[in-house]
Amino acid sequence: MSIAIVYSRAQIGIQAPLVTVEVHLSRGLPSLSIVGLPEMAVRESKDRVRSAIMNNQFEFPLRRITINLAPADLPKDGGRFDLAIAIGILAASGQLPSNSLKHFEFIGELALTGKLRPVRGLIPVARATRAAGRELVLPGENSAEASLVGAARLLPADHLLQICAHLSGKTAIEYTLPTRTDCQPRYEKDLADVHGQAHARRALEIAAAGRHNLLMLGPPGTGKTMLAERLPGILPPMSEEEALESAALASISSQGFRKELWRIRPFRHPHHTASAVALVGGGSQPRPGEISLAHHGVLFLDELPEFDRRVLEVLREPLESGRINISRAVQQAEFPASFQLVAAMNPCPCGYLGDASGRCHCSEDRVRRYRQRVSGPLLDRIDIHIEVPNITREILQASKSESESSHDVRQRVLAAWDRQLARNGKSNQSLNNREVERFCVLDKGCRNFLEEVMRQLQLSARAMHRIIKVARTISDLQSEDKIRVQHLAEAAGYRRLDREIS
Ligand SMILES: Nc1ncnc2c1ncn2[C@@H]1O[C@H](COP(=O)(O)OP(=O)(O)OP(=O)(O)O)[C@@H](O)[C@H]1O
Ligand SMILES: [Mg+2]
Repeated sequence: MSIAIVYSRAQIGIQAPLVTVEVHLSRGLPSLSIVGLPEMAVRESKDRVRSAIMNNQFEFPLRRITINLAPADLPKDGGRFDLAIAIGILAASGQLPSNSLKHFEFIGELALTGKLRPVRGLIPVARATRAAGRELVLPGENSAEASLVGAARLLPADHLLQICAHLSGKTAIEYTLPTRTDCQPRYEKDLADVHGQAHARRALEIAAAGRHNLLMLGPPGTGKTMLAERLPGILPPMSEEEALESAALASISSQGFRKELWRIRPFRHPHHTASAVALVGGGSQPRPGEISLAHHGVLFLDELPEFDRRVLEVLREPLESGRINISRAVQQAEFPASFQLVAAMNPCPCGYLGDASGRCHCSEDRVRRYRQRVSGPLLDRIDIHIEVPNITREILQASKSESESSHDVRQRVLAAWDRQLARNGKSNQSLNNREVERFCVLDKGCRNFLEEVMRQLQLSARAMHRIIKVARTISDLQSEDKIRVQHLAEAAGYRRLDREIS
């Protein structure tokens, strides 16, 4: 037979759509052409495949070879189709049996010697192959990553010859055993290291319990970064599905997936000079940005007003929808980006406004301009803003911290999280207005109190909803079904930036 059909997979966002590699040998002058929207790297695969085949005592057919990558309208990039193309040529020329090929999918880049090189984004591929009920032949170096997808049938190989021996029934490749994925990770950074700052610690706990976004305002060196870094360690554990999604995003990013980060909630802290593409993702072959790498975890923006305002504006859409759409001339991709935003800033340009030493000389106008760099709509999406003031030297130097550990705080967060899920089916932060009315019922006393607060602080209707949601989380932390005035009062206290500069 002079035609062979081999399956492989492309990568679009975090999807891995099926690509059928059709290889046809026909009469005519010896040539090799690849059709079906291949990008540069795929076109180069001709030379790699030719060398890999010839260097392993196979015959490269001296016929007219046409390779079609279908569907044609799917953009295809990278060397990931090399292996499928090589297998297709060997099968079409009768050097490999072709009858069992339909049970497999092939992915991997070939070196000129026939060695297999790893490719990016194996988690989406392994999931899709499993769903299709086929077995996946993949580079050995990718097998640790792919084996996180439980029950996927994986055949890892380091060389083209190994795969040919398997397909022709000579020497079978052993399946990779699935990695045990149920172990919970340990977080290095512990809240016990943070001295004092009871108010900020409480706000962090509430933020963790309801997945609320948090903004910390305070002079340099008071522990804002320390607190932010400890948030992932008090969040509820990641579900298998969440962990796979987060690992899939890492696996298609330029840094790749690191196995030791499995099930660790991501903590991303891009520098304030980061570009919009670095933050939200992009490129001609769209890659996920920081917000997607922070999916199911925390995005920490330190020195918030120093970020380019246009860069911050692009966060508004994913903050609402939990996804980001990237459109480029060649292709469009959507990445999940459901992250918890934690931001930190100094109270004024010099950083010492309100400091007892009186060393701040920033004019009120300068302070206002500094704060206005963070736009109203972005601030509006942050439920909790608090001050993190200087602490006394005695507290800081206390040899043994009396602070609670992350483990203890996490138990309360978990209990509150369970209550929320049982009631709302989602976090309090993500309740829409109608759901707020349904799940956050206020009695008359609470309504009167809230009206008074709104009048005094002159808050917007949106800010009011934020206060109610935070109050709901506070009541959940206290295992109470009803929202009480004291919960609303505490929540209203977390609106620092709605008040006048002081
Ligand atoms: N509350 C605290 N408990 C223990 N150590 C602290 C505390 N606050 C600050 N430190 C010490 O000061 C260092 C700086 O803290 P951190 O980086 O969190 O400050 P920051 O508020 O983020 O400052 P900046 O505004 O300059 O970014 C920490 O590494 C830690 O050693
Ligand atoms: Mg800091």
